[in-house]
Amino acid sequence: MSKQLWTAVDEFISQQLVSVDPALEAALADSEAAGLPAINVTPNQGKFLHLLARIQSARRVLEIGTLGGYSTIWLARALPPDGRLITLEANPRHAEIARKNIERAGLAAVVELRLGPALDTLPQLAPPFDFVFIDADKENNALYFDWALRLSRKGSVIIADNVVREGKILDSTSRDSTIEGTRRLYEKLNGEKRINATAIQTVGSKGYDGFAIASVE
Ligand code: SAH
Ligand code: DHB
Ligand code: MG
Repeated sequence: MSKQLWTAVDEFISQQLVSVDPALEAALADSEAAGLPAINVTPNQGKFLHLLARIQSARRVLEIGTLGGYSTIWLARALPPDGRLITLEANPRHAEIARKNIERAGLAAVVELRLGPALDTLPQLAPPFDFVFIDADKENNALYFDWALRLSRKGSVIIADNVVREGKILDSTSRDSTIEGTRRLYEKLNGEKRINATAIQTVGSKGYDGFAIASVE
């Protein structure tokens, strides 16, 4: 099995089930034109996050790691009219592109982008968030999880992206700080009494990776 096949299946799933949305397409096109890295979630993953947020009936969403706002738009579109999404981004270039993409999607009133390293902006936030998506620098994954839990309520859902990394997550001797950070996240998920969690491996056009999902009990 190859990434070529995974990509073809991603395209099939998206054609069948993920309706084409001009604002989402434009967000990707403008992110690429601006030279942003193409590390956004895929369309079917974006819809997956959207569905999770809907199933959760989320009204307040926190996202850590905005990039060009692609996952932001998917998540914000899951919210009721009075819903709110706060997204945290450290890179001013990414934030500028994201703001334009969010505005064009008609979500400027729903989404608030806070510029700065997330560890600086997280302490300014007030709980509770119903849904948290962690997708920034993986070094800090465990610290972001601590914040997500602090900003949660009973019943909140916390999702983390990129928790498999082509199986590199198995390497307990890895000196890759992103792997070390994500392994610390697993320790937290395992050790925290208020958390009920699992992780799912994924393949697709972005390769082999996975999501962790946690329920706050
Ligand atoms: N969620 C996006 C992808 C995010 S990529 C999507 O799927 O569309 C990761 C983002 O995290 C990048 O834009 C990067 O600039 C940002 N980032 C890296 N370190 C950060 C930090 N310390 N605080 C906040 N954002 C950070
Ligand atoms: C990469 C992918 C991601 O989804 C992410 O959030 C960060 C980095 C990557 O493939 O490098
Ligand atoms: Mg990611």
